[in-house]
Amino acid sequence: MSLKITGTGSCLPKKTVSNEELSKIVETSDKWIKERTGISKRQICVDETITDLAYEAAVQALESSGTKAEDLGYIICSTIGSDHITPSLACAVGERLNSMCPAFDLNAACSGFIYSLDMADSLISTNKADKILIICAEKMSSYTDWTDRSTCVLFGDGAGACVCEKGESLKYLYTDTLCNTSILQVDAGNGNSPFSDNIPRGYLKMDGKEVFKFAVTAFERHIEKAMKAINLNVSDIDMYLLHQANKRIIDFARTRLNQPDNKFPTNVEKFGNISSASIPILLDELLRDNLINKGDRLFLSAFGAGLTSGCAVLEWQ
Ligand code: ACO
Repeated sequence: MSLKITGTGSCLPKKTVSNEELSKIVETSDKWIKERTGISKRQICVDETITDLAYEAAVQALESSGTKAEDLGYIICSTIGSDHITPSLACAVGERLNSMCPAFDLNAACSGFIYSLDMADSLISTNKADKILIICAEKMSSYTDWTDRSTCVLFGDGAGACVCEKGESLKYLYTDTLCNTSILQVDAGNGNSPFSDNIPRGYLKMDGKEVFKFAVTAFERHIEKAMKAINLNVSDIDMYLLHQANKRIIDFARTRLNQPDNKFPTNVEKFGNISSASIPILLDELLRDNLINKGDRLFLSAFGAGLTSGCAVLEWQ
């Protein structure tokens, strides 16, 4: 492990969509959404592109770490979909930053931040780069079926970013993928080839109960592996930054570990589920509010389509 995070940033689109507003679009209620998910509102793109969000988060992360774009060794963007099929979102951000380093996208769904940290750690520890910009940016509203009440109430748009450098902060990282494409997916469609049926792109479909079960078992697996590997107890962790999919999943994890509420910060109530951007946005908020101190141990854990999952332990430097 060879990495530390030296700067963070985040960007949310301007439009707030409340539960009340959604109840005018689909048959739902503020009460149902809050009780089942903890979500009160979310930010949704109107004029903003995903590149706009990613770029703003990137600029903040570079500024807060004191890094110039020309000093970056890599730009890694985690996203389930960019403004273009190709080039990548990382290239679109790199164009605005005027950078020259290799830039590529990574799609590990909601676990994308952990997978990106894994890539960054590998690249830094093999001396391929000194400084890496990770951006997690998601425009979930593009993939949402706004007539499906069981999914459209869950998601939001936004971006979180960080700069990684050589350091001793990352103590443990684990990823896995229980390959399954049916529980949670967005169909890509077929384009407009004259030689095959023209199937338009689909919307996000999810078996919520199965995802819920996967999420809680993944978290238990992460905790068991991490605590054993680094010889810590769950009470040694100062903060648990979990994927912000559903407050009930976070509450389940907290109850299971019998740890106090304040160790499990959340932003799902105001932003909904922003896929891979959820954890880096939360991290940026906590740092800007001075709620993370040097020496604090952070446990990050995420799960998503794939079925990907992963966790990381950071000792803040
Ligand atoms: N408003 C009102 N009623 C609703 C709504 C809604 N928005 N959505 C569903 N219902 C109804 C259903 O139709 C059902 O009605 P019925 O009993 O008459 O059939 C009832 O509410 C219960 O529905 P369930 O699906 O059983 O509700 P559940 O308690 O399982 O909660 C939820 C659904 C919130 C999706 C839950 O399963 C969940 O959070 N799963 C995990 C989802 C998740 O984490 N997804 C993201 C992970 S990966 C990623 O981040 C991309």
